Amino acid sequence: MEMTNKPQKSPSLPWKTRITLLVLSVVTDASRRSDGTVNRSLLKFVNLKAPPNAKPIKGVKTSDVTVDPSRNLWFRLFVPTTQPPSSSSPLPIIVFFHGGGFIYLSADSNAYDAVCRRYARRLSAVVVSVNYRLAPEHRYPAQYDDGFDVLKFIDENKIPFLPENADLSCCFLAGDSAGANLAHHVAKRASESEFRQLKVIGLVAIQPFFGGEERTESEKRLSQVVSVERTDWMWKAFLPEGDRDHEVINVSGPRAADISRLEKFPATVVVVGGFDALQDWQRKYYDWLKSSGKEAYLLEYPNMVHAFYVFPELPESGQLITQVADFIRKIQASKK
Ligand SMILES: *[C@@H]1O[C@H](CO)[C@@H](O)[C@H](O)[C@H]1NC(C)=O
Ligand SMILES: *[C@@H]1O[C@H](CO)[C@@H](O)[C@H](O)[C@H]1NC(C)=O
Repeated sequence: MEMTNKPQKSPSLPWKTRITLLVLSVVTDASRRSDGTVNRSLLKFVNLKAPPNAKPIKGVKTSDVTVDPSRNLWFRLFVPTTQPPSSSSPLPIIVFFHGGGFIYLSADSNAYDAVCRRYARRLSAVVVSVNYRLAPEHRYPAQYDDGFDVLKFIDENKIPFLPENADLSCCFLAGDSAGANLAHHVAKRASESEFRQLKVIGLVAIQPFFGGEERTESEKRLSQVVSVERTDWMWKAFLPEGDRDHEVINVSGPRAADISRLEKFPATVVVVGGFDALQDWQRKYYDWLKSSGKEAYLLEYPNMVHAFYVFPELPESGQLITQVADFIRKIQASKK
């Protein structure tokens, strides 16, 4: 599984995408205060939200499900209504974690509502998009706890109106950027736990957000969307004080957890963009999965920046869904 597009010197993005990225960067930069807090009221202007809709839109109906009101933990459920010809075929469950540096965005953000709707329709899967708590108001490990508690909730069969052919033994964790970091750590916890019905069999890590004290070559060279200045601020808002080489971000470094003994750690696909400053960390992650004896695949998008998948106008965003569909079918078939 490898893309064959020739690499370019700079990313060629349509104007629409460039302008959106510029506006987002300006507003999110302005929202970060030097005292480490975030001006959330300013972000309302760029984080436009979509309501859930019981009437199918583009072949998918949505509803919001509360997991724990005391910490406002909920998820948006996406159920495809256009069944493939063999309508009794089991639907995989994809638990999805949105990106945003652990600080920004939500499961009801317009952009993520649209991303998960596309995934539910094109992958013929039930998608659970987790609205985890955000930093800096809630720091590590709140996000990982929220993600894992959603898995327990699903395992206890608490999702209302889940289609009968939804298959809890065919669960994938997926996420982009900080969401992919989260998906990794929730997958690790899941592989150390016993569930009644739920089986996590695959992990889709789209441009995962990892880092460390060290500055990699790609971090020094690239600053589109993700820059060292921005990620430094984000890690500071998320991690315990002064620990930039924490195992949850320097995930494959010398202090890394040993996952080689975790037999249930799922097959993983890692998606990398050639204009993403984080790519060196992501390749290290892939190498570490392999050297830990795990089934892992690397998908390269040489001409893409960080976050390209949220822009449907980019052909690569559609290609990614096709490749994720191939991965899901392959893993599903190997578990039969
Ligand atoms: C948040 O940003 C807006 C726009 O810049 C500003 O008017 C407002 O005073 C800020 N709020 C706080 C609490 O800092
Ligand atoms: C973080 O990881 C890199 C290798 O990926 C390593 O060079 C560095 O020493 C690590 N830092 C710590 C403290 O683990």
